Amino acid sequence: MKRIAVFTSGGDAPGMNACIRAVVRGAVYHGIEVFGIRRGYSGMINGDIFQMSSHSVSNIVQRGGTILKSARSKEFMTPEGRAKAFEQLKKFDIEGLVAIGGNGTFTGATLFYDEYGIPTVGAPGTIDNDLYGTDYTIGFDTAVNTALEAIDKIRDTADSHDRIFFIEVMGRDSGYIAIQSGIAGGAEMVMVPEVLTPISEVVEALKSGWSRQKSSSIVVIAEGEEEGNAVEISEKIRQQVQTEIDMRVTTLGHIQRGGIPTAYDRILASRLGLGALEGLMNGEKNVMAGIVNNELVYTPFRDTIRLPKPISEDLLRMVKILSV
Ligand code: F6P
Repeated sequence: MKRIAVFTSGGDAPGMNACIRAVVRGAVYHGIEVFGIRRGYSGMINGDIFQMSSHSVSNIVQRGGTILKSARSKEFMTPEGRAKAFEQLKKFDIEGLVAIGGNGTFTGATLFYDEYGIPTVGAPGTIDNDLYGTDYTIGFDTAVNTALEAIDKIRDTADSHDRIFFIEVMGRDSGYIAIQSGIAGGAEMVMVPEVLTPISEVVEALKSGWSRQKSSSIVVIAEGEEEGNAVEISEKIRQQVQTEIDMRVTTLGHIQRGGIPTAYDRILASRLGLGALEGLMNGEKNVMAGIVNNELVYTPFRDTIRLPKPISEDLLRMVKILSV
């Protein structure tokens, strides 16, 4: 393989730049020409493709966001869009791709390979940590730490005013950010989409806290929670508890997607970027590079897309035990 391209796609995640850097520097080291594609599949369709060098990735290992920018392309999900993308890659003689993104990105790459035979190796870049085939995804650790910093601050004011706070964190279909930031932040309750938590159970936990003179409580709620968003859940609880205790809601939102990546994310991203590149060079295709039990592994896209990555119920049990 003589020429490859790298791109980021889907929601951005802190550490994506460290991953791009590893792909580019790895390619330079191995004597392969490397191109960057801006704005993911949209840029591939529009030919927003440029040659990269070791210098193009200087001074980015510490930066959040992605220098290649990102997008969620509807056009690439159509056969016409993919045909345009293939024509653009042909112009640059690109023989293989490293895709940094999540499930949507890998679904697109699979369709593209089936139609045009361009091999892709993926690196898991999403704050949600919802990809089977890797213990952690790039950006997750930073997002958890960002959420945790906010929870710690909210705890101060919750305690001063004897309030209950409902804090909504990101995770469209996944409760990983909620469970980890909730445990580290000492939450009284964590609600995640993977496990049903009836409102009555939250009410019981809060009441039991009050009976033990707890003056403030924090409930961390994942965005994709079945019972609704944090505002809806707080209303349901308000109706059931009939209390004078003040309640407030904070939705953390996109703050969790930005910021300086943690050391953990930079190292993970570097390993996965180089792993994806070297996998591509060694003939891997339609697979995602991941780290499982500290080993580099390649998992077929069809499994990363299809297989669930359940949250350990032990962790949810632990939240209850530790908040008594
Ligand atoms: O997939 C990452 C994520 O941050 C989800 O947690 C969230 O639901 C979604 O992206 C938000 O996407 P957008 O930035 O397009 O609103």
